[in-house]
Amino acid sequence: MKQDYKEYEEKIKMNDNLKFDAERGETRTYEAAGKKITCRAYLGIVYCERPADPVQKLNIFVPEAYGQGGTVCGYTKDTAPIFIPNTVGGYLPGPADEPGLNIRTGMPNSIFTALEHGCVVVSGGVRGRTSGKRNSEFFEGGKTDDTGQYDGKMVGKAPALIVDMKAVIRYIRHNRSLIPGDTERIITSGTSAGGALSALAGAAGNSQDYVPYLKEIGAADERDDVFAANCYCPIHNLENADAAYEWQFGGIRDYYRTRHQKTENGIIRIPEEGTMTDRQMELSQELQNRFPAYLNSLNLKDENGNSLKLDNNGEGSFLEYIKGQILKSASRELAFHGAASHLSRLAAPGSAVDTFPALTILGESAVGLDWKAYMKAITRMKPAPAFDATDLKSPENEEFGSMEMEARHFSEFSMEHTETEAEMAPAQLIRMLNPTQYIGNADTAKHWRIRHGSFDRDTSFAIPVILALLLENNGYDVDFFLPWGIPHSGDYDLQELFAWIDTICG
Ligand code: DHB
Repeated sequence: MKQDYKEYEEKIKMNDNLKFDAERGETRTYEAAGKKITCRAYLGIVYCERPADPVQKLNIFVPEAYGQGGTVCGYTKDTAPIFIPNTVGGYLPGPADEPGLNIRTGMPNSIFTALEHGCVVVSGGVRGRTSGKRNSEFFEGGKTDDTGQYDGKMVGKAPALIVDMKAVIRYIRHNRSLIPGDTERIITSGTSAGGALSALAGAAGNSQDYVPYLKEIGAADERDDVFAANCYCPIHNLENADAAYEWQFGGIRDYYRTRHQKTENGIIRIPEEGTMTDRQMELSQELQNRFPAYLNSLNLKDENGNSLKLDNNGEGSFLEYIKGQILKSASRELAFHGAASHLSRLAAPGSAVDTFPALTILGESAVGLDWKAYMKAITRMKPAPAFDATDLKSPENEEFGSMEMEARHFSEFSMEHTETEAEMAPAQLIRMLNPTQYIGNADTAKHWRIRHGSFDRDTSFAIPVILALLLENNGYDVDFFLPWGIPHSGDYDLQELFAWIDTICG
């Protein structure tokens, strides 16, 4: 019997299409911002047996020293954390990436920095809302789907992005004896929709909900939980984000945003200004009215166990808590004397803390915040409803489409108020894209780092704050901060990110 079993195992091994081939590696030197890094690179590995789209490939980078039994920043080839950043933006496909320059920050990107810090890096390409079909002309976020097969089948709608990320994690675990790094120290990272993806990977480890989808693409049969999740401005909790947005920006009529348009000469940015119609103002008021019931249903508590609630006017301890978080951010900036902060180079115009109109400053501390004036100063970005658009034209509507349908609604409110022939995405699918639903109901990551700029207006501050509080209240370790003046962006504080990784791996 034992013999039979062994033979069976051998057979599986021989037929193992997902076995990592170490021979494929090459030594590469990458340059960014005047720095160089040499590593072992394994590029373009298909990480599942039945891929639906060419984007489903991953790159692995291993610090050069690990080939000679060396150490980097105290890590060895056996103890190194495995850092898994994603390139998802705007719920578009996020292809696998390589070490290089981050154009936005002008600094080496997170892959480069992670390698300098001794991490093994896995960059996995994941499907997005336009996978398998030609990209629409307008999109938010700046990534194009130039890897899709364009056969018209929409293979990248929800929950494809998280299914692919889980398949990447499973591939790495499947090959744990062959790939350097510690598979019990997997850390995901991403920004915006990519931050939501990192949060999902962190929250929903080993959940059975995703298994049929993982089987469909032929993912390895392994655990897919992670050790830690780093999330910059995660655009998540989408079915509650409209009410949260109006709770924060209700009463503000004008909106301002920049759209990205693809042209033959690259991507151009088109400023778009608008004023909400009377109808949109009505929707805003109705959504605003709905937020307290949702917030109160969560039974959130601060670090002292005080309950955080809102009254019917949207006021109360939860609002005061968020104001406190913004004041903490402003005070830290004051301590850095404004321009001395290393982040100020990346800060939004008009965010100088000393002269910022909505703040009351006493000595070195920000002690008062005029909430309405603050929102007026940072301005509204999206008309109501901000995410589940009544014309089905938002990136999130497209994300919740299906193989056959371009876009669907994902909130009862917008379904009730739709202006078009529309369907609602299935409840289970909506749940599978919401990390808050899985906290403590799956193998949720122990450690979390969440950053959301104090000038970010892509989603309400309530959304990252709810994520952080739900995690903390359920006993997870959370490092949360709203860095002063930072707009919707990520990877601006990579040295601090890797210092945090050292702390949790220590
Ligand atoms: C992103 C930004 C948004 O405002 C949004 O609604 C969805 C995604 C992004 O940058 O990924």
